[in-house]
Amino acid sequence: MSSAWKLARAEAERLKAIHLRDLFVADPERFKKFSRQTDGLTADFSKEKIDEDALNALLALADEAGVTAKRYAMFAGERINLTEDRAVLHVAARDPEGGYDVSGADEVAPTLERFLNFAEGVRSGAVAASDGKPFTDVVSIGIGGSDLGPAMAVRALVPYADGPNVHFIANVDGADFADTTRKLDPARTLVIVQSKTFTTQETMTNAQSARNWLAALLGEEGANAHLAAVSTNLEATAEFGVSPDRVFGFWDWIGGRYSIWSAIGLPLAIAIGAEDFRAFLAGGRAMDVHFRSAPLADNIPMLMGLIGVWRRNLMGATSVAVIPYDERLARFPAYLQQLTMESNGKRVRRDGLPVEHATCPVVWGEPGTNAQHSFFQLLHQGTDVIPVDFLLAAEPHEALSDHHAKLTANCLAQSKALAFGKTIDEVRTEMAASGVAEDKIGKLAPHRTFPGDRPSTTLVYRKLDPATLGHLIALYEHKTFVEAAIWDINAFDQWGVELGKALAKSLLPMVEGKSSEGEDASTAGLLKTLKDLRS
Ligand code: F6P
Repeated sequence: MSSAWKLARAEAERLKAIHLRDLFVADPERFKKFSRQTDGLTADFSKEKIDEDALNALLALADEAGVTAKRYAMFAGERINLTEDRAVLHVAARDPEGGYDVSGADEVAPTLERFLNFAEGVRSGAVAASDGKPFTDVVSIGIGGSDLGPAMAVRALVPYADGPNVHFIANVDGADFADTTRKLDPARTLVIVQSKTFTTQETMTNAQSARNWLAALLGEEGANAHLAAVSTNLEATAEFGVSPDRVFGFWDWIGGRYSIWSAIGLPLAIAIGAEDFRAFLAGGRAMDVHFRSAPLADNIPMLMGLIGVWRRNLMGATSVAVIPYDERLARFPAYLQQLTMESNGKRVRRDGLPVEHATCPVVWGEPGTNAQHSFFQLLHQGTDVIPVDFLLAAEPHEALSDHHAKLTANCLAQSKALAFGKTIDEVRTEMAASGVAEDKIGKLAPHRTFPGDRPSTTLVYRKLDPATLGHLIALYEHKTFVEAAIWDINAFDQWGVELGKALAKSLLPMVEGKSSEGEDASTAGLLKTLKDLRS
């Protein structure tokens, strides 16, 4: 183990023995010392189990891992995605005038212009259905990075959505297609097929069903007028029959889970319009400027990444919860699951050798306050310590009496309860004061005690507007980058999804009736059981 890791470990061992309550008592300036601001975003790290020495140890870890050189390499367009021999420049998609040094960078601005014009055309009715009337509904078909980003963002920015209704179909389960299209009229619906490769089984299956659904009413020609596509595979989009003026490309240096900034954002642009989409890009760009230029000790994505490593490797957390106290961020945890776990769920380093440290924790979450009434019990009193990221807006969009004040109070209450808990003595005193008998206190007090000392970060922003959403997504992208840099893994490939895909392909004929001879006993048994149940 390197000296930087040894130092960080020693700091962690020291801090494990000190309760967060005591850290706050010892230093009333913790908020001032351990919170950071940029562009209206505040990140409060004071309820993490860190102090100045721990932070310095983490910064030394960043130094040792060459995080700043790796950051430079990414922005310089170096082929840091080694296993696919690709640059990683999703940042260029949100910075059309950025002058990035990569083939295709000069196409970013004209492509953005084209797809935003198309979005505006759909919104105004200038891009019309086959009968010349406007589209009222848009169905986006994609999966993973070609779905989660726009689906999450359209949900997040509902107050800005003044275009046609936008729907999403991802799952190859026909229920998704059937339930989404049930109430839609093909004559009024535009279908956008979103797939980087244009080969993904789920997406191509749904796209074919959508084409059939359109053609059944409009005929093949009419169906074509209701199709658009976003892909890097222009040959395949042409083969599928999408007219070239309705195809919007992107480049191999934008990974699927980082593609919301590219034409994959088209459904969002149709929902909120070009101006707000540009504000969304600007929010992402502002975070890039901060990440590239702020000193490491004040750099929010850098600190979040380092604290991610601290939580995972030095404090032993195996999972992390993301709890937006912002209902419209309901899909944000799911979005982050792909961003972080597909990026950093790796077991070998960039040089192919096994990693020396545990990598990405499980990321999960649900909006508060709902989550308080389901799994927060475990966060407060379960046997595992699960660090939490809380997200909270200062202002709501709705002028609804005291809803937002109550939402805010609940969010602050949860991080406080997790950090400080309630000791058994406090419980005893409280129970005695309300007249509970001594023997009952003895029995109940352990159940009513909160250990506390459970870390969290709180992110506060003014309002969930397009720029803020862009800011938040870019923040988590860079946080994920920093963690990968420390672990020395490639955050930009996803070989782990390939085996399942290949096996599904080879099993399909057996599901459809071919003999399952030669299959393992479990798979063969399940195939037979399913066949018996079907008949
Ligand atoms: O299966 C994983 C994955 O390759 C993701 O990385 C990607 O976002 C998703 O599938 C969809 O891929 P595509 O955009 O090529 O259809």
